[in-house]
Amino acid sequence: MKAVLVTGSGENPTDLVLSDVPKPELEQGFALVRTRFAGVNRPDILQRRGLYPPPPGASIILGLEVSGTIEAIHPSTPYGAAWKVGDEVCALVNGGGYAEYVAVDIRHLLPVPKGLSLQDAGALPETALTVYANLMEHGALKAGETVLVHGANSGIGSMTVQMGKAFGARVVATARGEDKCTFAKSLGADLVIDTEGGDFVGPVKEFGGADVVLDIIAGDFAPKNLLCLNPKGRIVQVGTSRQAEVSIDLRRIMQKQAILTGSMLRPRSGDEKARLTEAVRERVWPFVEAGRIKPVIDKVLDFGDVAAAHAYMDSGAHKGKVALKI
Ligand SMILES: NC(=O)c1ccc[n+]([C@@H]2O[C@H](COP(=O)([O-])OP(=O)(O)OC[C@H]3O[C@@H](n4cnc5c(N)ncnc54)[C@H](OP(=O)(O)O)[C@@H]3O)[C@@H](O)[C@H]2O)c1
Repeated sequence: MKAVLVTGSGENPTDLVLSDVPKPELEQGFALVRTRFAGVNRPDILQRRGLYPPPPGASIILGLEVSGTIEAIHPSTPYGAAWKVGDEVCALVNGGGYAEYVAVDIRHLLPVPKGLSLQDAGALPETALTVYANLMEHGALKAGETVLVHGANSGIGSMTVQMGKAFGARVVATARGEDKCTFAKSLGADLVIDTEGGDFVGPVKEFGGADVVLDIIAGDFAPKNLLCLNPKGRIVQVGTSRQAEVSIDLRRIMQKQAILTGSMLRPRSGDEKARLTEAVRERVWPFVEAGRIKPVIDKVLDFGDVAAAHAYMDSGAHKGKVALKI
């Protein structure tokens, strides 16, 4: 089958090469999916550049989410009866998404939400699971609370704005530049702050402060998050685009009885991902099917144009998600 491999240092998108590799072997508990679309995520860029190595046992092929059709199910797979060959599915995968076939833990399969195309569904699972786990579980967001999300134009950010609104929260979003702020507003954010135009602390405080902050930026945003956090607020670190090592005044955590936490999706166990998949199917998929959470796909490129897809994401010009048509 054709799959994308990283050659050389991976520093440049052109280091991605479409190659011939063996089809994945079908192990017990797994289904083989004929991939139709694969989402492109920032962690793929980091993996290409050698900054986010696949965990032990994971495929070395890039790609953390796919949509497609079930080609085969291992015959002695428990729960296999819930799915059949030919079903259209989407899934979080432990690598291997940029390929014609990918082996998926059967417990991680999700149905394509009613009303969505395979294209829409291919760029949904990774962001939906990440944001659900961090906003609703670690962040324990409740209806009526205010969530502050940075980088609202990103894949993670655009999902956070929509999920926050769907679960009844008020959403304050930050982004850089007028165009990306307009985009964040169009997703339903109640207040959008252009961080190129000034600081976010004052406007967030004027809005009533934040109960939950979902942060992918870190750096100098970290102490500012604490400044505009409400008492008993939760800061959930999901990325460190700016700087991972930060300086914060720990007394503010004590004063506010704040919780500073964070998580990564990929290193979680298969059992944990299965539990999250079920939670997303029960609690998030109904919002997707009702049109209240929409996949926001900026650009879909052909498999052979994977280098262009990475270059586009590297440029930072995208709004929402980028996907590959396999
Ligand atoms: N913890 C997890 O499980 C998990 C899962 C998935 C993703 N992530 C992380 O979440 C982040 C977003 O992923 P994504 O796929 O949504 O990526 P993305 O669409 O490429 O978004 C990146 C975002 O970060 C912003 N940004 C980058 N550098 C910045 C800087 N120096 N200052 C301010 N803003 C900056 C970008 O703003 P501009 O558009 O203005 O450049 C953009 O909004 C990444 O850090 C990724 O590693 C974590």
